[in-house]
Amino acid sequence: MSLAEQRTENDEQSAVSVIGLGQMGTRLAQAFLAAGYATTVWNRSPAKADALVAQGAVRAATAAAAVTAGPLVVVCLPDYATVHGVLGPVAAELRGRTLVNLTSGTPEEAADAADRAAGHGAAYLDGAAMSGTRLVGRPEALFVLSGSRAAFDTHQAVLRSLGNTVYLGADPALAPVYDTALFGLAWGALAGFYHSVALTRAAGVDPSAFAGVAAAHMQFVTSLMTEHARQAQEGSFPDDDGTVEVHRAAMEHLAHTGTAQGVGTEVPALFRSLLEQAAADGHGASGIASVIETIAKGARKD
Ligand SMILES: NC(=O)c1ccc[n+]([C@@H]2O[C@H](COP(=O)([O-])OP(=O)(O)OC[C@H]3O[C@@H](n4cnc5c(N)ncnc54)[C@H](OP(=O)(O)O)[C@@H]3O)[C@@H](O)[C@H]2O)c1
Repeated sequence: MSLAEQRTENDEQSAVSVIGLGQMGTRLAQAFLAAGYATTVWNRSPAKADALVAQGAVRAATAAAAVTAGPLVVVCLPDYATVHGVLGPVAAELRGRTLVNLTSGTPEEAADAADRAAGHGAAYLDGAAMSGTRLVGRPEALFVLSGSRAAFDTHQAVLRSLGNTVYLGADPALAPVYDTALFGLAWGALAGFYHSVALTRAAGVDPSAFAGVAAAHMQFVTSLMTEHARQAQEGSFPDDDGTVEVHRAAMEHLAHTGTAQGVGTEVPALFRSLLEQAAADGHGASGIASVIETIAKGARKD
């Protein structure tokens, strides 16, 4: 089927409007267009819609026109205050439609936005783009969504144009909870990687050569996640992957090597601190996933 035929078929089935054509919103609109869906776009500065219109998008003259163009409105703006500023004046037009908000924010902001949408008679899905802009439209681009199950079911074919769209549950706050948790996970892994590149480069290793070995090793790291999550679920931490004490001793080698190479000690200092706290909490002979309990305890003294 040609793109034109596919577009005609999809025109009859569905249409989507994208409000906010910054770096992310532009890629969202491109992905919908590439999948053959009739796409209406609106941006405060109209010129940002020009390239999309050349690719087949329909330009809406106002935010209200974008909202009324179809049953599905995707909004991607810098923050929730801006979303409310843009959609507030046109909220009456949202009745009976689905609002998908891919703006980054907090769980509280998502809950508030869902309440506002409900007050206007709109179904609401909060969401987050987890894989940057370059992968949008490819199957490996992760989008997490939560809120109205019925809205997700109705529009999931259109939303799947964006990538791997994962529905998390009915609570709209789940999407920003996952968003922030996954951001922290990515940064934890990247901070370890950045430290290891600095360390190996100081020892004369080509960063690209190191990255090749490191990327393959990450399969082992990710293989631990399911098992360690199960241990956290059960509150039992067998020492199959080494005890906290064993890893604490090994961490000294990392700290020593970094110091010897003259690189910063911030990253191993964090790892060392977590293991020391876990040992102080009585987990020295437990498996390393017991660090989860030490972190979960936070500032509590028990
Ligand atoms: N870029 C990424 O890699 C990425 C990844 C994940 C999540 N996100 C999230 O996606 C959201 C959008 O990010 P972005 O990178 O696309 O931002 P961006 O490139 O800075 O674009 C911001 C957009 O918001 C519009 N805007 C700003 N203030 C406005 C206002 N008062 N009224 C109406 N429109 C306004 C801008 O319109 P003008 O063109 O008129 O200025 C522009 O279209 C953010 O929440 C961000 O955290 C981005």
